[in-house]
Amino acid sequence: MPEPRDISRQAFGALPDGTAVDLYTLTNTGGMSVSVMTYGGTLQSVRVRDRGGDVGHVLLGFGELAGYTGDAYRAASPFFGALIGRYGNRIADGRFTLDGETFRVPVNEPPNSLHGGDHGFDKAVWSAEEVRSGDSLGVRLSHTSPDGDAGYPGTLRVTVLYALDDGDRLSIDYSATTDKPTVVNLTNHAYWNLAGEGSGSVEDHLVQLDASRYTPVGPTHIPTGAIEPVADTPLDFRTFRAIGERLRDGFEQLARAGGYDHNWVLDRTGEPGLAVAARVREPSSGRELTVSTTEPAIQFYTGNFLDGTLYGTSGRQYRQGDGLALETQHFPDSPNHPHFPSTVLRPGETYRSTTVYAFSTGG
Ligand code: GAL
Repeated sequence: MPEPRDISRQAFGALPDGTAVDLYTLTNTGGMSVSVMTYGGTLQSVRVRDRGGDVGHVLLGFGELAGYTGDAYRAASPFFGALIGRYGNRIADGRFTLDGETFRVPVNEPPNSLHGGDHGFDKAVWSAEEVRSGDSLGVRLSHTSPDGDAGYPGTLRVTVLYALDDGDRLSIDYSATTDKPTVVNLTNHAYWNLAGEGSGSVEDHLVQLDASRYTPVGPTHIPTGAIEPVADTPLDFRTFRAIGERLRDGFEQLARAGGYDHNWVLDRTGEPGLAVAARVREPSSGRELTVSTTEPAIQFYTGNFLDGTLYGTSGRQYRQGDGLALETQHFPDSPNHPHFPSTVLRPGETYRSTTVYAFSTGG
């Protein structure tokens, strides 16, 4: 029996300054559900069937707002499920030059700026409206980041539409405009564990990435500027490989990052529009995730900084490697690498980006 399609809104507590936070839950006719909270535009929960039809949580997060605002979370700064802006990943030395002017952005991971700083879009309370279209239900979030916010130029008006359809596809559509030249690189920082959140390591998950090249990083995770082939390295995921298979090979890039935490350059055909970037299979549950995007790259991150200080939705501890992130993006530190695809947005232009997370059970 198909379940009724539904959008619900519930109060999800308040921030220390009294600002109320809401949680929207989208449920499709197959019983898959997605919850998004207005704080950080954060994906708080994704529940999807396994091969036996049982619905389970596959997203790392917390059952209560306090999980996202407490001291332990602030110290660990994992950005669970959050919208990331204005600039996903790192900007070297918290500094870039645009049209001859130098801008300084927060150095929250010395010596660099990470994910827009300590008060990025993941800390904003977004306005929300419900959207219904065909077999899809959604919530459209909006946020205006004022000129000079976290050091970035231009008033940036951002909307993000999360939508769930009856084909178990969760899509995220980002758009933004500015009134001064600026740089933008938006993404979502969902961590997945297809065996179930809190069930342990993702090392047995099989991953495939449609990418022949990546951008190696230096000692502080900033791209060196090189674009290297993945061939003959543990970063070669052109065919399905288990995450744990080559993690301990001693490859310098992996040792440096404590696991996978790199920007893969997608083998797009050159056509604009959505292209498959990544596929993930989890053998025990049979769950599969396919990530498609309009972006040129993807950060595949294996939760290397999860250090056991956080306990998630099911009350179980999150240890290193207990989740994986697939952050669709432009390349890290692009404003300081003119040969990387541009992240500059100018007045009159509209930034647009779409990523689709499609779930299935392969067997
Ligand atoms: C990733 C980044 C990691 C880490 C993580 C948040 O996007 O590549 O190095 O900072 O976010 O903990």
